[in-house]
Amino acid sequence: MRFEGKSIIVTGAASGIGLATARKFAAEGARLVLGDRNEEGVAAAARDLGGDAIAMPLDVADEQSCQALVERAVAAHGGLDVLCNIAGILDFGCMADLDKSRWDRTIAVNLTGVYLMSRLAMPHLLKTKGNIVNMASAAGLVGVPFNSAYVAAKHGVVGLTKALALEFSKQGIRINCICPTGVNTPMIAGAPPENIDWELVMRAVPWLDGGENCDPEDIADAVAFLASREARRITGVAFPVDGGQTAA
Ligand SMILES: NC(=O)c1ccc[n+]([C@@H]2O[C@H](COP(=O)([O-])OP(=O)(O)OC[C@H]3O[C@@H](n4cnc5c(N)ncnc54)[C@H](O)[C@@H]3O)[C@@H](O)[C@H]2O)c1
Repeated sequence: MRFEGKSIIVTGAASGIGLATARKFAAEGARLVLGDRNEEGVAAAARDLGGDAIAMPLDVADEQSCQALVERAVAAHGGLDVLCNIAGILDFGCMADLDKSRWDRTIAVNLTGVYLMSRLAMPHLLKTKGNIVNMASAAGLVGVPFNSAYVAAKHGVVGLTKALALEFSKQGIRINCICPTGVNTPMIAGAPPENIDWELVMRAVPWLDGGENCDPEDIADAVAFLASREARRITGVAFPVDGGQTAA
């Protein structure tokens, strides 16, 4: 029960890693506000968790939507202890097909969303000496072909994590991110575009070729560790959970 009574926001909580993370925190006594663009999905997640979990529609790329979520968490639970930025989208495709609207959306959700939520949550985290856990990716540490906007955004999340960890280090706020390899969630269940050289992708991401993916619970365990007091001396890290993919 490491999070007994703690006020925690989880974005992307309707599915996959965000949902597993919400379950993990709920099981350890947290008071949750769950946000997701999938309004029905996040409402179902909160119902399943029971207790006083609150679900809210959220677009992390929209500042007002982020603000409403943070305000709701603070009003409902008397403050904020942990922010988990997990919402994200994947957009495989050739550079030639990656028009500016696709580029902009991938950066807006995966990178600007982390900035917006962090900036709006920070005044409240300063009061509790809380912390932030961001969901980057192995693609935040190494390149993946035909995935340039996503890779750029996730490298950005790693950089943002490190910069903010240093900026707030004297104020007792920790900011970390996690870099998972493939995780069995709906995000990677779809078929990739036919016009990309999949052999090149395999070289960069061998787990896609029959390797062993993580389960969402493996990542949720790492989120909970970094958010907990056990990690009180850990800040500014990009923590791989990748079976060694990025160690080579
Ligand atoms: N699955 C993987 O292989 C993998 C690997 C590394 C990193 N990640 C990262 O983990 C995070 C979670 O991904 P997942 O695998 O659980 O995928 P998922 O598709 O199962 O879940 C992502 C959730 O984010 C929500 N979302 C998307 N855009 C949103 C927005 N604008 N505002 C609010 N919510 C939004 C979706 O509705 C969904 O519920 C993402 O940031 C992803 O990039 C996933």
